[in-house]
Amino acid sequence: MFSKLKLITGHANRPLAEEVARHAGIPLGDIDLFKFSNDESFVKINDNVRGADVYVIQPTCYPVNDSLMDLLIIIDALKRASAQRINCVIPYYAYARSDKKDQPRVPITAKLVADLITTAGADRVITVDLHADQIQGFFNIPVDHLYATPSFARYFKSIMQMEDIVVVSPDSGGANRARALAKRLSCSLAIGDKRRSGNDDNAELLNIIGDVAGKTCILFDDIIDTGGSLVKVAKALEEHGAKKILAACTHGILSGKAVQLLESSPIEKLFITNTIPLDEEKQNCSKIVQLSIAEMLAMAIKKIHIEESISILFR
Ligand code: R5P
Repeated sequence: MFSKLKLITGHANRPLAEEVARHAGIPLGDIDLFKFSNDESFVKINDNVRGADVYVIQPTCYPVNDSLMDLLIIIDALKRASAQRINCVIPYYAYARSDKKDQPRVPITAKLVADLITTAGADRVITVDLHADQIQGFFNIPVDHLYATPSFARYFKSIMQMEDIVVVSPDSGGANRARALAKRLSCSLAIGDKRRSGNDDNAELLNIIGDVAGKTCILFDDIIDTGGSLVKVAKALEEHGAKKILAACTHGILSGKAVQLLESSPIEKLFITNTIPLDEEKQNCSKIVQLSIAEMLAMAIKKIHIEESISILFR
């Protein structure tokens, strides 16, 4: 059993870390984290962490490489300050989509990032909705993989009647994730099916497998980045006679022109979690609704600290 539980955060998502700290009833530790004028990062942990069970809350979101580097140097500082166990709470794990060598001469960056985190000195990773479950295996340390699906399911049940609802996966790769939500909502499932049109490599046909006509569709994905994938499927759903189109994604990266794309799309509302903080433009977008996963993370931290099962979080 570890005596002292400490929470620490970098700059990546301070509002989430503060919310987690409130739920856990533990203040955030005091650290200095800044960049020198030469762009090198520096960290100093101001609290004594000797023998402590430390949880570093740092999603590797925008600016991705700074967030990652800050996480690495925080781990290194904690290790050298004799923390007993270093747990990295990485609600959004960047580079997760680079998880295989599917073209010649490309890196598997998700594995490289796992190696960097482990080599820096992490003892455990706690994360949410990895792009692919198998990324857990890139680590040789325990990974507690949490899911936002139960939170989304509870939320949808609380705001709408469960009649004529269909959960839609934008592609076959996300079918398991969408099926899990459909099961919790006791509704049907549909899948977007992208095909090349004839010999033209650039022309795509988007078919929808499943019955969506006259139904409320909940497009469900792990990530909305540029918004391109989701909006394309939303348009296809509209063409197939969907009555209403909602979308839910765990990680709202919303890069580039994603917000404008969303505004002009048939998606009425986009539900995302707070794994990634929203800038002002995104906060002001009336289509975006953010759900908090802070309580789930706080519960996970408290249970892991006392070596209890976290299965309750999957219900
Ligand atoms: C793909 O496999 C992912 O689940 C997302 O659908 C995709 O990465 C989202 O990217 P974008 O919003 O840029 O289309």
